[in-house]
Amino acid sequence: MTTAVEADTRTLIAVRGLKKHFPIKEGALQRVTGHVQAVDEVSFDIEKGQTLGLVGESGCGKTTLGRLVAGLSEPTAGGVYFDLGPQEKIELDRLMASDAERAEFDDEHRVDLLKGDAWRRFRRNTQMVFQDSFASLNPRQLVKDIVGRPLRVHREASGTALVERVVELLEQVGLGRQHLYRYPHQFSGGQRQRISIARALALDPGLVVLDEPSSALDVSVQAQILNLLHDLQADRGLTYLFITHDLSVVRHMADQIVVMYLGRVSERAPTDDLFAAPRHPYTEALLRASPDLDADGDEDGFQGLEGSVPDPARPPQGCRFHTRCVYATRVCGWEIDDVVLRLEETPGLFDRLEDVERRSPFDAELRFESEQAARTLVSTFQNEAPEPMRDALEDMTVEGRTVAIRFNPVPEVELTSRGTDHEAACVLEDFGSN
Ligand SMILES: Nc1ncnc2c1ncn2[C@@H]1O[C@H](COP(=O)(O)OP(=O)(O)OP(=O)(O)O)[C@@H](O)[C@H]1O
Ligand code: SF4
Ligand SMILES: [Mg+2]
Repeated sequence: MTTAVEADTRTLIAVRGLKKHFPIKEGALQRVTGHVQAVDEVSFDIEKGQTLGLVGESGCGKTTLGRLVAGLSEPTAGGVYFDLGPQEKIELDRLMASDAERAEFDDEHRVDLLKGDAWRRFRRNTQMVFQDSFASLNPRQLVKDIVGRPLRVHREASGTALVERVVELLEQVGLGRQHLYRYPHQFSGGQRQRISIARALALDPGLVVLDEPSSALDVSVQAQILNLLHDLQADRGLTYLFITHDLSVVRHMADQIVVMYLGRVSERAPTDDLFAAPRHPYTEALLRASPDLDADGDEDGFQGLEGSVPDPARPPQGCRFHTRCVYATRVCGWEIDDVVLRLEETPGLFDRLEDVERRSPFDAELRFESEQAARTLVSTFQNEAPEPMRDALEDMTVEGRTVAIRFNPVPEVELTSRGTDHEAACVLEDFGSN
């Protein structure tokens, strides 16, 4: 792991207000009925020579964000900025307030706007190792052609010189000349991942986006790949964006960690600080869910991560984690969907719900089949809803078959400082064991 002192002060990647929303299309006419907020208002920096670990559960937007950083997909809003000096980074943050004033700066540095030589420089410099090594390697191509392709496309080498460059790359990842004339299916998972890494290194990049590079592998092979990546970083001064769902994997690799939940950053911190004192309940839950990270080894205290991840097309209001947070308070974003979700868990009552008329995510009328069902909802809510959810209620009235419900509206919980380089998006400064 490189330290902040050793690292160059250039910022290789600055992500600002980045969004990627995918349209959901339905019906024969493919009408757009909503958007999956895969990445939503994400900002962070990756300094040259460092490793940034990006963690979060399946579906939280890690691959989408990795692809945006690697310039393989276009953002819906915001941007990824490439290779900024210290003054340029200050300038970027000064210009963030005004799109018009930033236009010239964007043309020079924003990845999706780069053209000509600037685009080619970025393209060579930034490579990605994909999540599924089997799918990302063409099954009909020999290793010689797979690893040699970037060199051929960029006219770096041809003929015998190309083959020798490929052999060199294979040797750097622990393979050799004997593997040149084999197809991907003739390799183990770990070896295939080595081929993917060799291909990513072919153009001598500065930044490699590693998308779950070791997740599909046995623990011992996983350790070999992590060691290889570590050695390559030391030899070549590489910068990594390391994507994983497993905090324990990046603990010894990453300088900084960004934790994502449903498209948003929930916590960002230097690795040591994050492990010593997580400042977001979601990070704490992720740490508890990694058995080998349960610091006190207390089996009874092991909680794991409970509840399912909400629909990213309709992320929860306030704090997106409030539906699963054990520390949730009355100001964490309780809303009509939380009532409907609880109703779905009570089939006898849910079946008698006829309609939900929403005035806002916090304010709606629920119409039931009968007056009795409407009154049952009210009593069930009063007796069984979590206390902070009941406290957040501003009004609940029954009139015939209709229950009008209004919660206190709460804005999205933003990241706020928790010390040097440490931010968390939680309304609680302290919680649980902190
Ligand atoms: N091309 C696409 N079109 C529509 N939705 C997409 C597309 N790509 C991703 N998504 C959605 O965006 C969300 C984030 O997906 P993404 O693949 O980035 O998650 P992830 O964190 O990498 O998950 P995993 O750990 O399973 O790899 C998911 O809800 C996914 O279904
Ligand atoms: S804001 Fe903090 S306490 Fe509230 S639900 Fe989110 S993580 Fe939990
Ligand atoms: Mg992924």
